[in-house]
Amino acid sequence: MPTVSVAITINGTLYERSVPDDLPLLDFLQEDLGLTGTKLGCGIGVCRACTVAVRRVPTAALTPLLSCSTPAAHLSGQEVFTVEGLGDARHLSPLQKSFLDEFAFQCGYCAPGFLMAAHILLDSLRFAPVPRDQLDAAIADACGAHICRCTGYKRYYAAIRKAALAEPGLVS
Ligand code: FES
Ligand code: FES
Repeated sequence: MPTVSVAITINGTLYERSVPDDLPLLDFLQEDLGLTGTKLGCGIGVCRACTVAVRRVPTAALTPLLSCSTPAAHLSGQEVFTVEGLGDARHLSPLQKSFLDEFAFQCGYCAPGFLMAAHILLDSLRFAPVPRDQLDAAIADACGAHICRCTGYKRYYAAIRKAALAEPGLVS
């Protein structure tokens, strides 16, 4: 199997490895790096449980990426963020705290994908705030394609709305 050298910055740490050229980023995260927070759901680019964030240009907003269906080799030279980069049990990010405060998940399997989608949304609002009456639409745009088998959408959206309104400057 052909291999390729990759150098990917993940949550601020540079990882240089030789990997199969078709190795999905999700497998690279979980099996090579032990970062198991990103979840495999459908494996075919539908559920978005495997969403990570990519900053392709240092001065640009984050963009979502489906790690189940993107080879790690495609991310070489880029900056990737996973749910482990948001915070940990002792140092929750405001977004993670909002999810907890709103009881915004049930089994929690889809939560890392929703957290990353919300994280990407908040990052984009720092570049381009929205009027308050457009916030719900922005949340739906960011998260509407994510699937939660426990159907906890309402609380997810409430947690994201609360986090967006709590940070000054995201909503005009
Ligand atoms: S695991 Fe479902 S979109 Fe990636
Ligand atoms: S909380 Fe169970 S799948 Fe979403």
